Amino acid sequence: MNVTNKVILVTGGGGGIGAGIAEAFAEKGAKVAITDINGDYAKAEVARIGLGAIALQHDVTSPESWAAVKAAVEAAFGPVDLVCNNAGISLPFKPMEEITLEQFDRVMAINVRGVFLGCQLFMGEMKARGSGHIVNTSSVNGQLPHGTFASYTASKFAVAGMSEALRQELAQFGVGVSILYPGLTRSRMSEAQMDDLPQEIKDAIAGKMMEPIWLGRAVVRAVEENRLHIITHPDHLPALKARMEALYADFGEPAQPDFVSQRISD
Ligand SMILES: NC(=O)c1ccc[n+]([C@@H]2O[C@H](COP(=O)([O-])OP(=O)(O)OC[C@H]3O[C@@H](n4cnc5c(N)ncnc54)[C@H](O)[C@@H]3O)[C@@H](O)[C@H]2O)c1
Repeated sequence: MNVTNKVILVTGGGGGIGAGIAEAFAEKGAKVAITDINGDYAKAEVARIGLGAIALQHDVTSPESWAAVKAAVEAAFGPVDLVCNNAGISLPFKPMEEITLEQFDRVMAINVRGVFLGCQLFMGEMKARGSGHIVNTSSVNGQLPHGTFASYTASKFAVAGMSEALRQELAQFGVGVSILYPGLTRSRMSEAQMDDLPQEIKDAIAGKMMEPIWLGRAVVRAVEENRLHIITHPDHLPALKARMEALYADFGEPAQPDFVSQRISD
């Protein structure tokens, strides 16, 4: 997709990675709507980026809020060509037994339900038009689990799985789906997450956060080329290979002797 003059909606764009995505599309001449639960954050990024971007208050967990945002973006720019479901939260690094049910439900509501709602609201008209693109923000933790980060890891695996399945579903209609897998990137979330870490780890990480604009530019390229995976921090590859090799190594004989599976899509 050529993104110039296209209408782009970025959730959680009031800072960090979403702001980087919004800025990168605005640089390319797209019409950008930045939404955030914190309307002031969204307005501040619109003031910083300029280039005709607009700011909207938005709770991605709420269907009513999505409907209001869709109507406002369409009134300002016309139909949405690209949705970036980027809003997300993390939880403190803690043993799973110390995470409350409310915390678990909240991380799932924003990171998974929010993405589901954003995809579902726009996919019908994208299919009808035979064009459009959806970018969902997962995480390196959407492929590489992290101990003491189980709920967040679960939410980001869910985003990756949902997006990959949706890509298969939408390809025949000319609609693309991409998954952004960021590693450590400068944002309010990542800076706050560091507060929980021991000082020696903080020192090691200091200065090793990627700047969000570079993730944004990677997202633009992926949309232009209709790529599934957006890998911004490739130095995680050895860890991912080790995880996959451990999985492959456990593919031995079927539990029922001589059993052969039939996949639905085969
Ligand atoms: N920063 C990193 O290192 C990193 C790494 C991997 C993945 N991610 C993912 O990137 C995405 C962006 O995170 P970030 O690091 O830029 O953090 P961030 O906190 O700067 O941005 C997230 C934004 O989402 C907004 N938000 C929270 N709840 C919302 C809701 N219900 N509705 C709408 N907006 C809401 C927040 O106000 C915030 O501005 C998240 O999905 C996060 O999980 C970040």
